[in-house]
Amino acid sequence: QKELSDTDYRSNFHFTPKKHWMNDPNGMFYLNGTYHLFFQHYPEGNVWGPMHWGHATTKDFLHWKEHPIALAPDSLGYIFSGSAVVDVNNTSGLGTKDHPAVVAMFTYHDPIKEREGRDNFQTQGIAYSLDAGKTWSKYAHNPVLDNPGIKDFRDPKLQWDEQHQQWIMVLAVKDRVYFYTSPDLLDWKKTSEFGLGLGAHDGVWECPDFFPLEVEGTTQTKWVLLQSLNPGAYNGGSGTQYFVGDFDGEQFTPVKTMQNLPAKHLYWLDFGRDNYAGVSWSNVPKNDGRRIYIGWMSNWQYAQEVPTETWRSAMTIPRELTLQKHGDTYRLYTVPVHELAKQLVPVKKRETVVVSADQKIVTNKLVSLDQSMISFSIRDAKEQRYTFSLTSKVDTLYFGYDGVKNEFFLDRSHMARSDFHPDFAAHITKAPRISNSNTITFDILLDRTSIELFCDQGATVITDIFFPKFPLTQFNALQSTQEYTLQHVIINQLKL
Ligand code: FRU
Repeated sequence: QKELSDTDYRSNFHFTPKKHWMNDPNGMFYLNGTYHLFFQHYPEGNVWGPMHWGHATTKDFLHWKEHPIALAPDSLGYIFSGSAVVDVNNTSGLGTKDHPAVVAMFTYHDPIKEREGRDNFQTQGIAYSLDAGKTWSKYAHNPVLDNPGIKDFRDPKLQWDEQHQQWIMVLAVKDRVYFYTSPDLLDWKKTSEFGLGLGAHDGVWECPDFFPLEVEGTTQTKWVLLQSLNPGAYNGGSGTQYFVGDFDGEQFTPVKTMQNLPAKHLYWLDFGRDNYAGVSWSNVPKNDGRRIYIGWMSNWQYAQEVPTETWRSAMTIPRELTLQKHGDTYRLYTVPVHELAKQLVPVKKRETVVVSADQKIVTNKLVSLDQSMISFSIRDAKEQRYTFSLTSKVDTLYFGYDGVKNEFFLDRSHMARSDFHPDFAAHITKAPRISNSNTITFDILLDRTSIELFCDQGATVITDIFFPKFPLTQFNALQSTQEYTLQHVIINQLKL
C-alpha cells in the first residue's frame, strides 16, 4: 500500500483551490440560483503571499467550480478580506435598477507603506460587477474609507439593515469592531465601537460578521456578531467567538448575559482547531430565509506547513446558523446545510449497538469513510469516557464525550503525520457540552482530511483536520468503565 500524500489529500466534497494557497472565505453572495464564494488566494505559491480574491461557485454546496481570479492587487495594495452584496435598489448608482451591481468591499493592504513603517497601510476599497460576479471593476475613487492611523483596520462585512433602511458595515480594528452606516455603500459614517475588554482578546480581532437572526420558536429577532480572533481561540490559535444582542441602527448592545463576558467563555461558533474567519452569504432569498456560513478549515498556527504541496487549505462544509434561547442567554447552533442530507445514502442502520469491549462499527468495505456521515446517540450518559476511533494500519484518530468533565474531545496526536508542526497535535481539542438534553447526538462528517463533529444538533461543534499516512479503514467504539449502548446508529455514504 502506497503512503498518502498531496493529491490523495484533496477533499472529496469540501472546496479546495486547484492550485496554491487559500485562506479566508470572502464576498459570498447568492444570485440567480448560484452561490458565489471568493477567497484569499496567492496564485503563485503554496504559502501566504500578495493576496488576490479567487472565485468559485456552487449550486448545491458539494460540487464547486473554480473561476478565474476576481480581484488582483493594484497600486493601492493587496486585496485582503471583505464581503459583497447585491445592490438591488441601485443605491450606489454603480448598476441600474434592472441590472443591479454586485458590490464588493475589501481591505487594501499596502505593502510599501507597511515597509516604510507607516501605520495607515490598510484602507477599504470597492469593486463592482455588472455581470453577476463574473468580472469585476475597481471603483474609480478608492479608497472609500481611509485609515485613521491604526495598523489593524480591516475585513469590512456589509449587511442591509431592513429596519433602518441603510447599509451597515462592521470592520475589525485591532481589539474591537467599528460600526459604520451608509446610504449608498460609498460614503461611510462611523457610528459606534464594540468589544474593548469583552470576550477573548489574546490576539487580533479579524473578519467580523453582523446579521439579524430569528430566535427559534419565536418571532423575535436578535443581532449576532461573529468575531474571529487570532491567536487566542478556545483551543489555541485561530477561532471565532460570537455575541448576541440588539442593534438600534447605530450601536450594538449585547444581551445582559454577555455584557461582562470574560476572556474565557463558552460562546464559540466552533470549538475545533480548524474553522477560522468564517462569514455568511448575502442576498439569500427571503423565502429561503437561511443564514448560511462557511469557514476556512485551518489555523494560522500551522496552515502554511500542512503536508500538501500543490494546493493548501479547504473550506468547511457550508453550515446553517440558527439561534436558540437557553434560559436567559442565547446560543448559536450550526449544522450542515440541508443540501447535504439529500446526498446521504444510509448503507447500514442499527437501532442499538451494545459496547462492552472495543468493537468495530463499520469498515470501508461498506462505506467510503472519506466521504461519509456517521450518526448515533447516547442516552443518559454516565460519568465515564465514550471514545470512538477511526483507524488505518498506522493511524488513529480518537474522539468522543467525557461524561466526567461533561465535554467532547478530539485527539489527533496518534495520526502518523502530525509532527510537521509542534502545535498541530500538541494537545487534545476539547469542547464543553452546551446542551443539557438527556440524549447526546453525534453527526460526524468525514472527508479525506477533515472531521466535522456536530454534537447535540449543532450546539457544540468541533472541526479538525488530519493527515493520515494510509487511508482510514475502520470506525470503532471503544470499551469504557461500564458497558454502554449506542442508539440509532446510521452509517451514510455521501453520493456525489
Ligand atoms: C484572517 C486575515 C484577515 C486578512 C486576511 C489576509 O485570516 O488575517 O484579517 O484580511 O487574513 O489574508
